Amino acid sequence: MFFRGKMEKTAKSKDSNIVLALDFPFEEPKNKEKLFSRAKNVLDRVHPYICAVKINHHLVLPLGTFNGVQKIVEKAHDFGLLTIMDCKVNDIGSTNKVIAQYYYASGFDALIANPFIGWEEGLKPIFDVAQELQRGVILLVYMSHKGATEGYGQTIINTEKRVSIPQYMAFAKKALKWKADGIVAGATFPEKIKEIHKTIGEEIPIYSPGIGTQGGKIKAALEAGARYLIVGRTITLAEKPSEVAKKIRDQAKK
Ligand code: XMP
Repeated sequence: MFFRGKMEKTAKSKDSNIVLALDFPFEEPKNKEKLFSRAKNVLDRVHPYICAVKINHHLVLPLGTFNGVQKIVEKAHDFGLLTIMDCKVNDIGSTNKVIAQYYYASGFDALIANPFIGWEEGLKPIFDVAQELQRGVILLVYMSHKGATEGYGQTIINTEKRVSIPQYMAFAKKALKWKADGIVAGATFPEKIKEIHKTIGEEIPIYSPGIGTQGGKIKAALEAGARYLIVGRTITLAEKPSEVAKKIRDQAKK
């Protein structure tokens, strides 16, 4: 739970609960320097209004982890921000362990993993590495896209208790049991955030993506119980990213 405390402190000191998703559209790999400069530039402008940066394959694939994305992670740290790798780890435990080791070795403070893989020989090796290195693990509970209803929204039967429950509620309970540092629930489904929040309370913070471009609303997500808002294209593709970031931060503060 080390990362959770660090996020609380950082959000307080930065006076922001906005996590910037530093995502950009496809660039020809030969133009990767341009992409790198663009990412650095957005971070330079936006850092006063955010508490963390979330990086996805948009940057890891073209820039590479070491020497590429790692430099952005270091820059974020220099600004006093935390960094999250949105790799949605989803493999067998031995592979997951190596994925986590590489991302943590490049400086990431936390990564996102998929609870569908289960604990033994699945998530446990990630949590073990995270604990050893004092980093974080954030679990998907309900994704922000429409098709999330098919998997995260399906109904499952607990054969021991002979009751049926939604998949996402089972994941929320597991996140508590496994002491995850955070869970992800899409701002596009505020009613799900509310239900999840009722179960996990304030023990595990809810990270909510889907604000803006995907249609999620700041107020609805926060009122439902989200603690951190993940915002990408609305900021990164704006003509004036700092103005948009400030506006979103100010709205979230209200
Ligand atoms: P936009 O541009 O839509 O970017 O603001 C959102 C960012 O977050 C990622 N994303 C998710 N990550 N669980 C996650 O872990 C989710 O449910 C989810 N929904 C969106 C998305 O890939 C982008 O990086």
